[in-house]
Amino acid sequence: MAVREICKNVYSVGVIDWDRQIFDELLPLPEGTTYNAYLVVGSEKTVLIDSVDPEFEEEFITNLARSNVSKIDYVIVNHAEQDHSGSLPVFLELFPGSKIITSEKCKDLLASFHNIPDSRMIVVGDGETLSLGDKTLEFLITPWVHWPDTMITYLKEDGIMFTCDLFGAHYATGSLFVDDRISHYILAKRYFAEILMPFRHKVAEYLDRLSGYEFGIIAPSHGPVYNDKEYILDAYRDWSSDNVKNRVIIPYISMHGSTRKMVMYLTESLISKGVSVRPYDLGKVDTGLLAMDLIDAATIIIATPTVLFGPHPKVANLAFLSSILKPKAKLLGIIGSYGWGGKTVKDLEDMVHKLNVEILEPVYIKGAPAEKDFEALDRLSDEILNKHREYKII
Ligand SMILES: Cc1cc2nc3c(=O)[nH]c(=O)nc-3n(C[C@H](O)[C@H](O)[C@H](O)COP(=O)(O)O)c2cc1C
Repeated sequence: MAVREICKNVYSVGVIDWDRQIFDELLPLPEGTTYNAYLVVGSEKTVLIDSVDPEFEEEFITNLARSNVSKIDYVIVNHAEQDHSGSLPVFLELFPGSKIITSEKCKDLLASFHNIPDSRMIVVGDGETLSLGDKTLEFLITPWVHWPDTMITYLKEDGIMFTCDLFGAHYATGSLFVDDRISHYILAKRYFAEILMPFRHKVAEYLDRLSGYEFGIIAPSHGPVYNDKEYILDAYRDWSSDNVKNRVIIPYISMHGSTRKMVMYLTESLISKGVSVRPYDLGKVDTGLLAMDLIDAATIIIATPTVLFGPHPKVANLAFLSSILKPKAKLLGIIGSYGWGGKTVKDLEDMVHKLNVEILEPVYIKGAPAEKDFEALDRLSDEILNKHREYKII
């Protein structure tokens, strides 16, 4: 990526990964990603903020060389995850006079990930500042967005928040600033669902904290920079709140069609009652889309046949993923079909026990659905409707 100026003496020096298709060996990246890094050139000191994925260290070092900066005094590491810290070893070798500035927890992680010696690291505490001469940086220690080590760096004079993963989007775009909100919003929401939803209470707390600062620009470590912060702050306020919508999602698997018939019947029944619903065939779905819907859904209905005495493994995987993403849903139901026996319902309930949800009466039937089973599904959709009314979301 070319070196680009955000404002006077502040440059974007990261890289674009146009072709990355998956993150953490789990999350699809339909639009690739960027690994952002920033250079802040003060009248006395120059700092680099974060680095890039090690796969791109050559391009990154080339960017630093092209930026015409002869000396970098410090590299600020907002988060130790390797997609931001992986190029540090080569950087420290090429800039032997430079030191890392980071949080206590991040120092510990950097030492173990990259064998960086203590002598190259300076720990900063919450609210500490660093003068670059004509520019001042303040460090906000903000654990758990998305690891225990995370911090935000605030550049006071230019009103820029360098937020690392907070406000990120996996979006490989050549635009420095967000210029296509429609594409960006979806990718930022997908990112929130996958990376930040488990920590949404922390996110809400830090949104409040940020409201005490004057800034016009947010420079995250993935995706474009924001020069209109209200757009993303509004979205984050909604996503990190307890608010749910009149939305039911039905992740399902069906090997021979019985569970699918139940899912389709329940879907129609909910639609006819004015409840927004989306079935997701787990054999085909992009997990990121489903995760995005978990931000809004008031109700999750898990649908599976019994396979070797328990839920289908793809459904078990989804139930486990849901329990670690900690969605806001208030209701959870289990439906599906079995042949001779097992403990599917109990297994699934155990898998989601960490979720703070009310479990609805399951509709778990033998073989293909008959009239009485469709009636049970109608009762289930009535119950969902009534609960959604109680929550005042319909
Ligand atoms: C590989 C396989 C394993 C199964 N294991 C069980 C089982 O352990 N217990 C059971 O009750 N039914 C078992 N069944 C039967 C299915 O649960 C049953 O046919 C169900 O109706 C299938 O639902 P579907 O049409 O939605 O796939 C198994 C079926 C298959 C194909």
